[in-house]
Amino acid sequence: MEVRNRVVVSPMDMYSARDGTPNELHLIHLGARALGGAGLLVTEMTCVSPEARISLGCTGMYRDEHEAAWRGITEAVHRWSPAKICLQLGHSGAKGSTKLMWEGNEEPLESGQWEVIAPSPIAFRDGMQVPREMTRRDMDTVREQFVRATRMGAAAGFDMIELHCAHGYLLSSFITPVSNRRRDNYGGSLENRMRFPLEVLSATRAAWPDNRPISVRVSATDWTHDGITGDEAVQIARALHAAGADIIHVSAGQTSARAKPVYGRMFQTPLSDRIRNEGHVPTIAVGNITEADQVNAIIAAGRADLCALARSHLADPNWTLHAAAQLGYRDQWWPVQYQSGKEQLERMLSRQKEMELQGTSTI
Ligand SMILES: Cc1cc2nc3c(=O)[nH]c(=O)nc-3n(C[C@H](O)[C@H](O)[C@H](O)COP(=O)(O)O)c2cc1C
Repeated sequence: MEVRNRVVVSPMDMYSARDGTPNELHLIHLGARALGGAGLLVTEMTCVSPEARISLGCTGMYRDEHEAAWRGITEAVHRWSPAKICLQLGHSGAKGSTKLMWEGNEEPLESGQWEVIAPSPIAFRDGMQVPREMTRRDMDTVREQFVRATRMGAAAGFDMIELHCAHGYLLSSFITPVSNRRRDNYGGSLENRMRFPLEVLSATRAAWPDNRPISVRVSATDWTHDGITGDEAVQIARALHAAGADIIHVSAGQTSARAKPVYGRMFQTPLSDRIRNEGHVPTIAVGNITEADQVNAIIAAGRADLCALARSHLADPNWTLHAAAQLGYRDQWWPVQYQSGKEQLERMLSRQKEMELQGTSTI
């Protein structure tokens, strides 16, 4: 798969679906960002079964109408822009059955809760549901749900899929010892903790067309004293790469309520750097990357292959168009319908630069 540039619209849950079906909001949201020039769009975490949803507003890929609705979105993106579109697939695990983000993030539903499952019966935080410990039969069911969603994603015209193995959701909660206390073949050593996520990845890879890539999003540190560290993340990335992941999307944290994250500009990029340069695995960097110079520096220094921006794309769907104009890159693709906007912006920015230069020369 070839992308037009290395800017990625990071996955962002819109909490706006009903019964898992994406609607006009998802079309407008992803459509605006496709016209906004990013090379790759990643959908929000799209859930593989009704129980896999975080909230009642999450999108799904488990009913025929989901596939049809998603096909409408991929066709619109492909018809009107050169952007590629990736379907992020996930299962919420112990973090499921909660309210919409703006009604109470990580707060359980007041009524109509469904049973949640996880590797071990540990609530994500106080007040959240204690999940039921998964049996081997549950693992078979969940694996097959991922396979079904993958096939539907291929039929719906997605260019790529991303398995969500980060942020304490089901697959992530197997990988990290913070939430996986199993004493069988699926807990304990890293090899054991990786067994079920790798099984899902292998099954997914077999169901996904050979010529389309798969990404896996990981939390490369738990930000706790007893969790995953950057060292282990390199091994995790290698194992996923060997099992068929083409690229690792390097996020961090949200796996433990006890975490002490260290925020800052581009704060997760060092983790991507290690996975790419020590592990020799292609990566997507993400996390507080906000400026064009940061994207260019990360790529030019070989710290990642692609850069994902989330909140910056909420503030500005046309982030890539604006960044290109600021850098004086005239060959940036703009929608043909928007050409006069491109010319005006470029003219304004070069006049601004001239005035700044004149200003400094007269001082
Ligand atoms: C509103 C919102 C929803 C998000 N939903 C998802 C999601 O569905 N899947 C996911 O992997 N990350 C999700 N994230 C995390 C972002 O993809 C990204 O990793 C994070 O916001 C850090 O990037 P930023 O500093 O550019 O915002 C979400 C973030 C926001 C702000």
